[in-house]
Amino acid sequence: MSSHLRKIFKTVLLSAALKIFLISGAVAGTVLPQNASDIHLGVTSCAGSTCHGATTPWAGSTVLQNEYMTWEQYDPHSKAYSVLMNKTSKKIAANLGIGKAHEAKICLDCHADNVPKNKRGRVFQISDGVGCEACHGGGQRWLGLHVSGVGTHEDNVKAGLYPTEDPVKRAELCISCHFGDETKFVTHRIMGAGHPRMSFELDTFTAIQPAHYKIDSDYRKRKKVANGIQTWAIGQAMSLERRMDAVLDPKRNRDGLFPELVLFDCQACHHSIIEQKWEPRPGTGLGPGVVRFDDSNLLMLQIIVSDIDKEKGARLVQQTKMLHKATTESESKYLAAAKALKKTSSELVTLFSNHKFGKKDVAKLLKGLVEKANKAEFSDYVGAEQAIMGISSVLSTADRMGMKSFAKSAKKAVDRAYLALSKYDNWDYVGFKSAVRSIKTTP
Ligand code: HEC
Ligand code: HEC
Ligand code: HEC
Ligand code: HEC
Repeated sequence: MSSHLRKIFKTVLLSAALKIFLISGAVAGTVLPQNASDIHLGVTSCAGSTCHGATTPWAGSTVLQNEYMTWEQYDPHSKAYSVLMNKTSKKIAANLGIGKAHEAKICLDCHADNVPKNKRGRVFQISDGVGCEACHGGGQRWLGLHVSGVGTHEDNVKAGLYPTEDPVKRAELCISCHFGDETKFVTHRIMGAGHPRMSFELDTFTAIQPAHYKIDSDYRKRKKVANGIQTWAIGQAMSLERRMDAVLDPKRNRDGLFPELVLFDCQACHHSIIEQKWEPRPGTGLGPGVVRFDDSNLLMLQIIVSDIDKEKGARLVQQTKMLHKATTESESKYLAAAKALKKTSSELVTLFSNHKFGKKDVAKLLKGLVEKANKAEFSDYVGAEQAIMGISSVLSTADRMGMKSFAKSAKKAVDRAYLALSKYDNWDYVGFKSAVRSIKTTP
């Protein structure tokens, strides 16, 4: 995460409020906006000055009404299409030999609301990038209903509005582009052509998007609100599930002789051979010279699960080791280990959806994170990056629950940890570890 994002995140760290979220079964089968059958009417349809296109928030309205301005001016999603015309994209497209990036399906599927032609309304423009309906669902059926103001939120959802407030549904949505799914995926070949590395954490990325909505008492009447820790936990479980889907997908899990490298820790290969950095990471059980699977989500999940259920936590530690071991043995063992973890990951989504994450979890989770740092488990950049986003999520949730002393006492340490991660190629592991160790885990 860039320092720019960090700044935005920190300002968000100290705002808003909390409520426990229990998943409603009603939305369990909702299809992602891109795959649903509704016509996408286009951003212009949402941006009328009396709808969501006001220049400033409206007093007395249930929603802010300036959502379009926020999206257009501050949200990177509104630039997602135009970046396909920049120098990096031109290089990526030339290296891959795919013609123009802004016309290539593989790029448009994530950088725009790339629904088929017959699902585009009259004023729909692909150049709007990741527009309102890419997240909120094609407006064909729900637009009229929600403009009339008679329907409830549930009615709108039944008419095709995507339930972005539901943490499980939000995780599925964001991760479909920020990691990929069976229809769109950034392979190591695309990375090799010049695509930036992708990282994701649901609660942090929700905070830095930035928000074009306000969670106030009126919002809480209309929608359920998940707290930040629950959002973090569900995001981790869903990320693991999608990663395991990729391992188990014969179209995505191999590239010739090699497994798909994007699923492995980039820095297991990409670092200097003169400056030797290897040291054992007990949780992997691996020796030197092995390409490590990217287990950053697993590291977070081990901590979150142990907080709730010690026995399940121990099982997850075991299954993580099995996966690492399997990568040194055979493809069939690798697939079997992934299958077991896929099953666990969906159980975890349910477990976290039904768990009330509250004040009692804060100290335990922070302790779990600091202990893992002490055991040298965050010596891979991706693990350290997930750890600091997780720590930020726990601290900002604690702050919103009124536990002010946690975030306040940890502020300097969090800043130092982010700073230690600011240079990807030459990150400061020692600095990161000492920063995390200094975080107080009791109020
Ligand atoms: C699976 C979804 C996915 C696919 C496929 C994809 N991208 Fe991306 N791309 C992303 C995401 C998400 C980011 C933002 C990563 C971040 O900052 O965390 C991104 C970032 C970028 C950036 C950097 C943007 C910036 O603001 O600096 C460029 C350039 C880019 N992509 C070009 C392409 C091109 C060209 C293609 C087609 C070959 C492509 N992408 C395919 C999801 C995707
Ligand atoms: C990258 C995904 C994404 C995009 C793009 C996006 N939104 Fe949202 N939107 C969200 C999320 C997440 C929420 C918060 C959860 C919720 O309330 O459903 C939200 C909430 C909202 C709300 C609810 C406010 C409330 O009080 O209930 C409105 C209205 C809204 N968005 C309008 C828009 C408009 C208009 C656009 C386009 C200009 C847009 N959104 C683009 C993800 C997105
Ligand atoms: C249709 C694909 C798509 C969906 C769905 C999507 N994103 Fe993105 N997101 C992108 C792309 C592409 C970029 C890079 C845009 C750029 O840099 O111009 C991006 C960029 C971002 C960034 C900026 C990251 C950075 O490093 O600068 C954040 C934060 C973000 N998305 C959060 C979210 C969240 C939260 C959700 C779910 C509510 C979400 N996104 C859903 C495609 C998507
Ligand atoms: C198993 C080892 C391995 C892993 C893991 C791996 N890569 Fe690579 N990567 C390579 C090799 C080999 C090349 C080709 C180098 C060459 O052509 O000189 C390469 C090339 C690249 C390049 C192009 C470099 C250049 O000089 O043009 C980029 C960028 C890249 N990888 C990014 C990544 C990212 C991001 C990840 C993690 C998500 C990753 N790689 C994981 C081995 C790996």
